[in-house]
Amino acid sequence: MGNRSAMENTLNGRKAVVTGGASGIGAACVRELAARGAKVVVADVDSAGAAALADEVGGTSWAVDLLDVDKLTTLSLDCDILVNNAGIQRINPIEAFDPADFRRIIALMLEAPFLLIRAALPHMYANGFGRIINVSSVHGIRASPFKSAYVSAKHGLEGLSKVAALEGGGAESRPTASTRATSGLRSSRSRSRTRPRCTASPSRRSWPG
Ligand SMILES: NC(=O)c1ccc[n+]([C@@H]2O[C@H](COP(=O)([O-])OP(=O)(O)OC[C@H]3O[C@@H](n4cnc5c(N)ncnc54)[C@H](O)[C@@H]3O)[C@@H](O)[C@H]2O)c1
Repeated sequence: MGNRSAMENTLNGRKAVVTGGASGIGAACVRELAARGAKVVVADVDSAGAAALADEVGGTSWAVDLLDVDKLTTLSLDCDILVNNAGIQRINPIEAFDPADFRRIIALMLEAPFLLIRAALPHMYANGFGRIINVSSVHGIRASPFKSAYVSAKHGLEGLSKVAALEGGGAESRPTASTRATSGLRSSRSRSRTRPRCTASPSRRSWPG
């Protein structure tokens, strides 16, 4: 806990957006980011849950259905930290998998993260600072039967993280015990003053999701 107090408030003045922030892992991210001083936007289709948690942490809520990807194409997202976390699961053998469910999972867990990163990067580049955390899964690097959509989306998300890391201004791989695939954008001194630098950290731990 000694280390924790040293890390607290290191995000003072930073603005974070956490998708699927009303519950589960997203809510834990919201509380941790807020505890470290960030102003957090709790983005969730569960508007009541998002509002309640935003009140709790002194942030704001964004009632948004991320399945409505068309609305995200014109979005401009002024934030320093973006946590792409919202996710769902459907389990069925491929031959019985509802194509609409497949599309929903790809839209929510791959297309929406792409569009949110796309909306946030111009601000991050302009500010010379940014962090993008894409919440992945062991299913970003391994497969399980009956989870064709989920595994496809998480593998795609891993690829998206790698591209974002490269485009952010140079990449380096860092093994980690994190449950997430992350691409963090940092100010770069060696390349340019405004071009952020990225790190990509594939997940290593096993999750049931
Ligand atoms: N729980 C696990 O065991 C596990 C394991 C590996 C990875 N993950 C990943 O972690 C992330 C969070 O999982 P969780 O277990 O905390 O899930 P959860 O169900 O507790 O929370 C998901 C949140 O996403 C929101 N959400 C769902 N659809 C949405 C939409 N259309 N628009 C906006 N928000 C929407 C929900 O309202 C909910 O608040 C997911 O990406 C999941 O794939 C979870």
